[in-house]
Amino acid sequence: MSEHQVGYRGPTLLRHAARKTCIIPSMNGDIDRVLITEAQIAARIRELAGEIGTAYPEPADGIVIVPVLSGSVFFLVDLVRLLPMKMRIGMVAVSSYPGEATRSQGAKLVSGRFPDVRDRHVLLVDDILDSGGTLRLVRSVMERAGARSIKTAVLLRKVSRAPVDVPADFVGFDIEDRFVVGYGLDYNDYYRNLPYIAVLRPELYKVAESCPV
Ligand code: IMP
Ligand code: MG
Repeated sequence: MSEHQVGYRGPTLLRHAARKTCIIPSMNGDIDRVLITEAQIAARIRELAGEIGTAYPEPADGIVIVPVLSGSVFFLVDLVRLLPMKMRIGMVAVSSYPGEATRSQGAKLVSGRFPDVRDRHVLLVDDILDSGGTLRLVRSVMERAGARSIKTAVLLRKVSRAPVDVPADFVGFDIEDRFVVGYGLDYNDYYRNLPYIAVLRPELYKVAESCPV
């Protein structure tokens, strides 16, 4: 079946469809509950930008923003356009939830466009602080690269899971320990383009668990 034919839902889903027991995601129809609306996200990011602006009183050489790809890109572009100071933007990519995983499988640095952070103020930007493995890893890379200071901004934090040794300086929303999607956050690489944060219908996760590769 070509990818333009009706019924094509991507390679993973075709595999599942072949078993006839699995459900095919269809974006909005897969949403169980919206946790945080588009308007709430926009309002909170505006507040965060104010907090971050106050915390960095215009260093002469600016700050270095280091987003953790891919999940943070939506948060990044909305946030940095509201920040009043000079900045450079590097990038790192970390993989910890490959494929259909809903728990971290261990953070691995997979690529990056490493900025020069020696003696610079670094602001790490990520979508969510969960087990902390991702930010612990990126923070240690920045420390070894000689950053002058390292702060962290996350849109979401799962309060009951975030470890004490991985502090987040700027937090958009504290949420309960649920797997969420939207606004950059994915499940099996889908749903990043939802403009809100949501929880998927539980049977979709169960389907994924019962349909191993
Ligand atoms: P940590 O390393 O366990 O703190 O997880 C951080 C990374 O895992 C985030 O940058 C996300 O990419 C991913 N992640 C953690 N929780 C979720 C979730 O609920 N939905 C989607 N991705 C998540
Ligand atoms: Mg991520």
